[in-house]
Amino acid sequence: MLSPIVAGAWRMASWGWDVPARVRWVEQCLALGVTSFDHADIYGDYSVEALFGQALAASPPLREHLQIVTKCGIRLVSAARPGHAIKSYDSSRAHVTASVENSLRALQTDRIDLLLIHRPDLLMDPHELADTFRSLRAAGKVLNCGVSNHTPSQFALLHRHWPLATHQIELSPLHLDALGDGTLDQCVDLGVRPMVWSPLAGGRLFTGEDESARRVRGVLGELAQTHGVSSATVAYAWILRHPSRPLPITGSSRIEAVADAVAALALPLSAEEWYRIWRAGAGRDLV
Ligand SMILES: NC(=O)c1ccc[n+]([C@@H]2O[C@H](COP(=O)([O-])OP(=O)(O)OC[C@H]3O[C@@H](n4cnc5c(N)ncnc54)[C@H](OP(=O)(O)O)[C@@H]3O)[C@@H](O)[C@H]2O)c1
Repeated sequence: MLSPIVAGAWRMASWGWDVPARVRWVEQCLALGVTSFDHADIYGDYSVEALFGQALAASPPLREHLQIVTKCGIRLVSAARPGHAIKSYDSSRAHVTASVENSLRALQTDRIDLLLIHRPDLLMDPHELADTFRSLRAAGKVLNCGVSNHTPSQFALLHRHWPLATHQIELSPLHLDALGDGTLDQCVDLGVRPMVWSPLAGGRLFTGEDESARRVRGVLGELAQTHGVSSATVAYAWILRHPSRPLPITGSSRIEAVADAVAALALPLSAEEWYRIWRAGAGRDLV
C-alpha cells in the first residue's frame, strides 16, 4: 500500500515554497519511487495539508500516483481551532469524523489512503473508534487505519477491534525505545510494518553536540566510507535492517536527502554493523 520510503510533510510550512515548488518536490519524490506522503491535521499549525492540497489541485493527475497518510486526534490550542481550550487528545466519533472532513477539504481529495490516530487518547473507546473507522471506510473516505505513538497494550486493544494497518513510531540510533519496549516485537508478531518518524533524530544525528550524537556520527561516518554512501544512507539502512520491515519517513525538503533514504534500500548492513551503530547510540556494550 505504501512505498518503502515515505516523504514526510511535517516541516513543509517552514520551507516557504510557492505552489510550483511544491508540485516539483512531489514529482521528484515520485520519480524516486517515493509515492507515499505523510501528513497530520496539525502540521504547520493546521496549515500543511492545505499547502499540499494546493499542489494536488495545480496538477490533478498527481493524485492517482500517490498515497496520502494523515493523522488526527490531537486538539492543539490554535487560532485555527478557537474551540480548543487546552491541548487534549480526542478519538471520539465526532472528532475523528470532523477531522477527516477537514483533511479531505484541505488536501483537495476525495479519499485518505491511511488515517492514523496521532497519539493515544486515554479515553479511547475501542468499540466506538472501530465503528468510526468502519463508517469512514464504508463511505470510501478512508481506505486504511492505524495508530501512532501507542504503547503495545494500547495497540493490541484497538487491534482486537480493527485490523490496524501500521504503527507509526519514533526510531533512530538516538531513540532506541521501540527496540526494547515490545513495540517492534509486536509489529513482527502481527506482521504489521511500522512507519518510522524522525529516522535521523530530527537532524540531531548530524548536528547534535552531545556525546551520543558524536559517537553515532563517528560510526555512521566510518560505515559510510566503507560502503561509499552518505552517513544518512547508513542511518536509514540501520532502520531498514529490522525484521519488522519498517517504512522510514523522510523529513527533509532537499530531494538529495530523499534520495539518500532510497539508496538505503540497496544497502543491507551486517548484524555486526547494525550493532556497532546500536552500541554507539546506547552508549554501552551488550551485557
Ligand atoms: N507520528 C508522529 O508523532 C510524528 C512526529 C514527528 C514526525 N513525524 C513524521 O516523520 C517525518 C520525519 O520526521 P523528521 O522531520 O523529524 O525526520 P528526520 O529525517 O529525523 O529530520 C529531518 C530534519 O533533519 C535535518 N537534516 C540535517 N541534516 C540532514 C541530512 N544530512 N539529511 C537529511 N536531513 C538532515 C533536515 O533538514 P533539511 O531539510 O535542511 O535537510 C530536517 O530538518 C515528518 O515529516 C512527519 O511526517 C511523525
